[in-house]
Amino acid sequence: MSGLFVTLEGPEGAGKSTNREYLAGRLRASGVEVLLTREPGGTPLAERIRELLLAPSDEPMAADTELLLVFAARAQHLAEVIRPALARGCVVLCDRFTDATYAYQGGGRGLSTARIAELEAFVQGDLRPQLTLIFDLPVEIGLSRAAARGRLDRFEQEGRGFFEAVRQAYLTRAAAVPARYRIVDAAQPLDAVQRALDGLLPELLEFARG
Ligand code: TMP
Repeated sequence: MSGLFVTLEGPEGAGKSTNREYLAGRLRASGVEVLLTREPGGTPLAERIRELLLAPSDEPMAADTELLLVFAARAQHLAEVIRPALARGCVVLCDRFTDATYAYQGGGRGLSTARIAELEAFVQGDLRPQLTLIFDLPVEIGLSRAAARGRLDRFEQEGRGFFEAVRQAYLTRAAAVPARYRIVDAAQPLDAVQRALDGLLPELLEFARG
């Protein structure tokens, strides 16, 4: 039995946390076993790496260090959580995965896509999400929602240009492989976003039931 690997992506302030809970609830109500997790993080060790990545610090983090840390956390998460859950036949709903690396370290930091692809192959082998939902919204809306939540983490402190590049990288990836991506308009009110997710549910269940 092999499960279904679904990832949720998007910029800060896109409402991923609320919507991942909603989607997990809808899938569970349909009788599907769901494992909800996130990156960077998802295991105690990977959560410690997340703290290193998100904490603002006086010492600037080199872009390559950042890239290696996200993949170090991912290797742990895959070994301890994602691969075992998929082997059990679960639907793994993961808040961010390697598309975030292409968007933030590739688009935002300007690291080469080829370098990211090498690490992706090294850490994941041929494992890729079967479906990725991108919660898309204009940068200024995302930044003002993130600012309203309070203290900004190391990524949230980046400027508008960084987040424009992140958004573009997500949309470019989605356009290149439309079969794998669904774009959700996250600028709409929450109930409209959730109706859009309801619309995706039959397709997700079809995937999950093989
Ligand atoms: P969030 O999951 O709370 O949105 O925060 C995680 C932050 O980490 C977010 O700013 C995006 C960033 N990130 C990367 O830069 N690269 C990655 O590969 C992942 C998974 C996250």
